[in-house]
Amino acid sequence: MGPQPEEVRDAVRKKYSEVALSASGKFSYPTGREGALALGYDQALVEAAFPGLLESFCGVGNPFTLGPVLPGSIVLDVGCGAGFDLYTAARLAGPGGRVYGVDLTDAMVSRARENLRHAGIANAEVQQVISESLPFGDDLFDAVISNGVINLSASKEALFGEINRVLKPGGRFAFADVVLTQQLPEGLAGSAEAWSQ
Ligand SMILES: C[S@@+](CC[C@H](N)C(=O)[O-])C[C@H]1O[C@@H](n2cnc3c(N)ncnc32)[C@H](O)[C@@H]1O
Repeated sequence: MGPQPEEVRDAVRKKYSEVALSASGKFSYPTGREGALALGYDQALVEAAFPGLLESFCGVGNPFTLGPVLPGSIVLDVGCGAGFDLYTAARLAGPGGRVYGVDLTDAMVSRARENLRHAGIANAEVQQVISESLPFGDDLFDAVISNGVINLSASKEALFGEINRVLKPGGRFAFADVVLTQQLPEGLAGSAEAWSQ
């Protein structure tokens, strides 16, 4: 049997409170500015970003390659971390759009708010939230994005259900994530720490 959802969330909060200081050396894949460039984020956007936005960036893919965020869009980033994808979405949605970020980890939420303020992004807001229970009404968002987060959820059906509920009919969910390609050894599958990596 796997760990309880609250155990997984505690392990995630512990790990990502540290990543909120810096992602450097904490993952087996490139993170930060180097990671963003390797994942094909727009170079000009990366160069122009406030450094704090990239310091804790630990995305595993680039959700913006899956379809455009159009000017005027209302966008939700599930597990926004320190805010680099929120910044990217806010720049694409423009002043007529609005972006919302949610994250489980207090330290990430504080970092994202601070980063977005320093970056001069006025059309974004961030909330500390468990994404399996989103504090938004039905049919609100043109797009939901997420990067490296769903694998960390111990209640994936609830999470997908919530994303489906808050998306407008015809809205798009664009996410990047990691998947298992083989069965984990038993000890690892039952470990909350392993879930949080
Ligand atoms: C790998 S990091 C990715 C952060 C950000 N998307 C990025 O690309 O830099 C995963 C993030 O998801 C958050 N997270 C994990 N499980 C969550 C959940 N159930 N609800 C909300 N946030 C969650 C973590 O706190 C962490 O900030």
